[in-house]
Amino acid sequence: MKKARTGAGLLAVAALLGMTIATAVRAADTAGLVETCFACHGKNGVSTDANVPSIASYSEEYLAGTMKKYQKKDRPCVEAEYHSGSKKGTKTDMCKIAAGLSEGDVKQIGEFFAAQTFVRTPQTFDAELAKQGKAIHNTKCYTCHADDGSLPSDNAGILAGQKIAYLRQQIKFFKEGKRPMSKKMKPKLESLDDAQLEAVVHFYGSLQ
Ligand code: HEC
Ligand code: HEC
Repeated sequence: MKKARTGAGLLAVAALLGMTIATAVRAADTAGLVETCFACHGKNGVSTDANVPSIASYSEEYLAGTMKKYQKKDRPCVEAEYHSGSKKGTKTDMCKIAAGLSEGDVKQIGEFFAAQTFVRTPQTFDAELAKQGKAIHNTKCYTCHADDGSLPSDNAGILAGQKIAYLRQQIKFFKEGKRPMSKKMKPKLESLDDAQLEAVVHFYGSLQ
């Protein structure tokens, strides 16, 4: 009886240790994975590069969906340079980065960034354009990009306080048909001319 209890006790301890080790390995794994992202997207996904979007607070769903698009090359990939780490100064793009990630990696990365806080970019904008852009947003865009495009749960990126140069580039890709749009967003975006689209970009950039 005594012997059996000791055996069970040891098993319980081993199970406990095993779990702790697995959790520790997973945490170290996640840190290694996201460190690569920090090299361009900034620490914890708060970017300091005008052409690289901040990804802090992005939902797991949007991040996973976006990685799939890059893996299938459904979204254009812009060449970019690592700002830090062992690959500093070398170039790559999101298609290549996404190609090297397993589904498990994407899940870990997604959980990490979803728990971070988005920090709006302090950047120069044209106040008059921003005003025009706000009116356009409030008639054509707000239904899917609620609260001025600031909700991760909309699974549509974060527009409020996002990098102006990044948004301008993505809108160009949408217009040129290089990045796919949802069926309902397409007519709204295509109904706007270049000046109106520039105004919308200034509106999102003005939110600081
Ligand atoms: C070498 C620089 C670089 C590295 C490293 C990098 N990214 Fe990116 N990432 C970019 C650039 C530039 C863009 C925007 C242009 C584009 O889509 O190609 C981008 C776009 C994205 C987007 C789309 C954002 C949006 O609003 O739709 C996500 C999500 C993303 N990256 C996640 C990651 C994750 C996760 C990692 C780490 C595993 C990572 N990136 C590593 C440069 C990088
Ligand atoms: C019917 C819903 C809907 C409407 C309306 C809509 N969008 Fe979107 N938008 C989306 C979705 C969904 C995505 C994410 C697409 C993806 O997963 O690549 C998106 C993505 C974007 C992005 C890219 C975000 C990023 O982080 O890369 C921009 C910029 C954008 N929308 C601007 C607009 C503007 C400007 C309008 C109004 C003219 C608009 N959208 C109207 C659904 C919508």
